[in-house]
Amino acid sequence: MNGSVASRAAQSVNETRLLDRHAQLASIGAIDPVGMNRQALTDADIEARRLVLSWAAERGYGTAIDDIGNMFIRRPGRDESAMPIVTGSHIDSQPAGGPFDGAFGVLAACEVLEALEDAGIVTERPVEVAVWTNEEGSRFQPTTMGSAVFAGQLPLVEALSATDTHGISVGDALERLFRELPIPDGRELRAPFAAYLEAHIEQGPLLESAGIPIGVVTAIQGLRWFTVRVDGETGHAGTTPRSRRRDALVAAVTMVGRLSQLMDDPGDVVRFTVGRFEVEPNSPNTIPGSVLFTIDLRHPDANVLAALGDQVDGICQANAFGCRVSVVETMNAAPTVLDAGISQVIRAAATDVGLEHMDIASGATHDAKYVALTCPAGMIFIPCRGGVSHTVLEFASGEHMVAGTRVLAATTAELALG
Ligand code: GLV
Ligand code: MN
Ligand code: MN
Repeated sequence: MNGSVASRAAQSVNETRLLDRHAQLASIGAIDPVGMNRQALTDADIEARRLVLSWAAERGYGTAIDDIGNMFIRRPGRDESAMPIVTGSHIDSQPAGGPFDGAFGVLAACEVLEALEDAGIVTERPVEVAVWTNEEGSRFQPTTMGSAVFAGQLPLVEALSATDTHGISVGDALERLFRELPIPDGRELRAPFAAYLEAHIEQGPLLESAGIPIGVVTAIQGLRWFTVRVDGETGHAGTTPRSRRRDALVAAVTMVGRLSQLMDDPGDVVRFTVGRFEVEPNSPNTIPGSVLFTIDLRHPDANVLAALGDQVDGICQANAFGCRVSVVETMNAAPTVLDAGISQVIRAAATDVGLEHMDIASGATHDAKYVALTCPAGMIFIPCRGGVSHTVLEFASGEHMVAGTRVLAATTAELALG
């Protein structure tokens, strides 16, 4: 570790500034009395981006945006031709989420730039903050959209044509964003990074249970998403004999039941979620004519993920009850192993800062998974209360946010020095 300089960066993290900014950001899209609804490319997302850009403007940092709306804030290095060290996360949220998932990583990244500035540290490489578009995937599918496009894992045209439940496309929503944000510079997709770091709340219970403030993330489990559409026939609930129905809901719930059985595993490692279920016409006395539901399937082992995911289509088709069934896979991301060298720098930084740490695998997905395909990448976790996230009850303490930010600052400084 480059001892004193990295330590100085860590010590220059300003708790008051970090927590004040957290409160400012948390007020945009806040749900009363608690929680966050700041879905991708909504008015709240645009306002939150504007706030982050105002912090960059105070320091005179350059800002840039790419074709999928990923934003970058740059603190120059001594060698401006060197590839930057980039750190960031996302500021969009789930419809009923909390103000820490993603936001903490962006706030920590902005604070790293401030800390380097306050400590008067000149880095060899530029240091950049990244704010990725639509990490959550709740308004527009799939999840981690901005980083997927950045890394060349999702064609831009495909991402732009994704629509929300009101038929608004990512392309339309982005046009508004481009009009409303004061960012002068365009940026090519896949601009190369020397390394990428992401700080995030754990979103699970391991750090809290162990009483350890820092997780060094070694891997992110794999993820497959499917959208299943079942088309049957509407009709009168009182007059149509059951033998003559093509009831899309009966078919869909049977599919979900069979799939749930398939996903039962003794070790309880498989993650299987049907998070969206839409019934048409959704009237008590009309036979459901169509159903749309989503599947989120995760596993740390690529073979198990492949074996389970490959059965989804067959199981749905086998339980059609006379309906037309279409299964579209909207995402297939393999498990990710993060860079061992970067993880070692994070461990050394935590030790340097005087914080206990442990290795941990991520159950949640992150933009780091796609960025890791383009450069060495690492992640730093902090605990969250009760291990809960994607709920309004999500909470992380100021003490842990400061701890994670100090480790991020020391790691970034170490990597950017030369
Ligand atoms: C991220 O939001 C995830 O779904 O893991
Ligand atoms: Mn997140
Ligand atoms: Mn999330």
